[in-house]
Amino acid sequence: VQEKVTIIENIKKQLQVRNAVIVAHYYTDPEIQLLAETTGGCVADSLEMAKFGSQDPATTLLVVGVRFMGETAKILSPEKTIIMPTLEAECSLDIGCPYEAFSAFCDAHPERTVVVYANTSAAVKARADWVVTSSIAVELIDYLDSLGQKILWAPDRHLGRYVQQRTGADILCWDSTCIVHDEFKTQALRKMKKLYPEAAILVHPESPQAVVELADVVGSTSQLIKAAKYMQQKTMIVATDRGIFYKMQQACPEKIFLSAPTAGEGATCRSCAQCPWMALNCLQTIAEGLTESSIYHQVQIDEVVRQQAFVPLKRMLSFAA
Ligand code: 13P
Ligand code: SF4
Repeated sequence: VQEKVTIIENIKKQLQVRNAVIVAHYYTDPEIQLLAETTGGCVADSLEMAKFGSQDPATTLLVVGVRFMGETAKILSPEKTIIMPTLEAECSLDIGCPYEAFSAFCDAHPERTVVVYANTSAAVKARADWVVTSSIAVELIDYLDSLGQKILWAPDRHLGRYVQQRTGADILCWDSTCIVHDEFKTQALRKMKKLYPEAAILVHPESPQAVVELADVVGSTSQLIKAAKYMQQKTMIVATDRGIFYKMQQACPEKIFLSAPTAGEGATCRSCAQCPWMALNCLQTIAEGLTESSIYHQVQIDEVVRQQAFVPLKRMLSFAA
């Protein structure tokens, strides 16, 4: 315990020395979220992280999440130093959408407007017309559809299908999934609902269609936290990374939050409602990131790619404003 207190004190000191703030995602460990909250940083969904990072006056951003979040911060604020506890924190959607193959897919469909999820590399963003996060995906596609545009969507096929069903837009979808959300199991969720008939079901739209169909609320992480507050039910079954429970419980201490089941009969659970890459972030790696100014922690992006990726990201922020 004493060691942890010392690490936290050191981190706080380094944040001041380096004029840095923590920009953390809701999936990170509760002690990281608490540290961000108590040191003037933010805990947010991926859209709000991008907004906060581009607006905060700090000259160094310590982005605690996965690599695309650090890259987004660098694309939007090239003048700032962006450090991450580890650059190894990937995302299965980013991995599942390599630039060369994606670019060829775009070339094969030049008539389509290219919309990519924020969970992609800087190079993939640079090839896109728009970047989007789950909190504004339906609104953006609805808007593009109203302009008569056909969409090429990447990389999450569950989110793409969800958005297609909500908007009726013409969407051609890349085929990739999030290894965390893809594990939520429909039959087991039905059984759980029988055990807790009064519970509300909250689902992130990266989940499979059959799980989304059982939901009372579908939304991004911040939308699910809001729903936890306004829904009348006392018990909530939540299909997303369980790091979100820290904020939900903080907002609603009297409510009960349960993780939606991930391992169906006979199935192996690869993630169990916890993103393995988000879990690479801890107090120790944060302290290392702040003290070692090495290439192992600093986000760097080729300037040509950065300038190209800036355009669709800036469009996203303007659309969301
Ligand atoms: P949000 O944009 O809802 O925070 O989602 C990011 C993410 O990686 C979900 O798995
Ligand atoms: Fe990527 Fe899924 Fe992890 Fe989110 S939870 S960062 S989509 S792997």
